[in-house]
Amino acid sequence: MNVLGLCAGRPDGNTEIMMKEAFMAIEEMCGAQCRLVRVQETTINTCVGCESCMVNHLKGNWDFRCVHKNGSDHFYFIEQLMREADAIIVSSPAYNLLPTGQMIKLLNKMHASGNYRDMVEKENKIGAAFSIGGTDWTNFTLNVCKMIAMELAGSYEALVDAVHFDFMPSRGAVLLEDDVLKRMRQFGETIAAALTAKEKGEKLSYAGTPGVCPDCHGNLLEIRADGVYCPQCLTKAKLQIVDEELRVEFTREAIARNRWSIWGKRLHDDNIRKGHKKAAEGKDQIRERMKKYVDYERAVTLPEILPE
Ligand SMILES: Cc1cc2nc3c(=O)[nH]c(=O)nc-3n(C[C@H](O)[C@H](O)[C@H](O)COP(=O)(O)O)c2cc1C
Repeated sequence: MNVLGLCAGRPDGNTEIMMKEAFMAIEEMCGAQCRLVRVQETTINTCVGCESCMVNHLKGNWDFRCVHKNGSDHFYFIEQLMREADAIIVSSPAYNLLPTGQMIKLLNKMHASGNYRDMVEKENKIGAAFSIGGTDWTNFTLNVCKMIAMELAGSYEALVDAVHFDFMPSRGAVLLEDDVLKRMRQFGETIAAALTAKEKGEKLSYAGTPGVCPDCHGNLLEIRADGVYCPQCLTKAKLQIVDEELRVEFTREAIARNRWSIWGKRLHDDNIRKGHKKAAEGKDQIRERMKKYVDYERAVTLPEILPE
């Protein structure tokens, strides 16, 4: 068995120490091989939005990868580690309330991952996520790490643990927090137990911090013109005030129509197809109208980058 830890913290920083604490528990409990990728040290080409991968994959051409060829960055190396993994842990410190930009860059690049999505949807991997912050300015960090873990594992049902800790600013600060290290050991034990359960064909359960949304365990709500939604999985919520307390309810029907359900993903793929079809049909008009904006050139010329 194989566990992959994607860690967007500093080398030997808090996130990495926490990941290693979980790894030690996993190795002791079930002997799985644990590998850590220092995401911040990777080179990942910026997705240029050419959409070649999306268009090809929507046509079922899974062999098409990316205009950035294998070997020009670390993406395919990491993707191969993901393919080999039975469990994937996504972890990041808060950078401006979010996971690090490099972690998001890796997620952006997943569009180029051939049949990875198809493969993990058919057979989920085990997923888990954790995050930390130097203060408590961390609103989106765990939610986004969970979303990334869900994409890499195949579904929110595949998530077995997720936890966040605030107020750990300096490198090594976590080493003063016995409770945090204890929780990370537990995190590892949960993953080891899930690996064993999955091998036996048993159902997995979620042991992480409960969220407001029963579907993705997220703790955010978004107010739209037609109601309140979980912004991660787009499940519509019913809100009530009972005894001066806010109650959030998600109906079975709403959960079944969340964006990551088979229904939701099909709708999304159809919407992409529809959008491309409309643009293809109107390509002459687009070309004609485009001239005005191409001629209106205001982009600055970027200076040459000098070696450090
Ligand atoms: C660019 C940058 C942005 C940061 N933004 C936040 C933030 O929004 N909220 C927060 O709580 N901590 C923030 N931090 C602090 C880190 O989350 C904190 O130092 C953490 O311990 C780093 O984890 P590591 O030791 O695993 O690298 C930021 C740090 C950096 C370098």
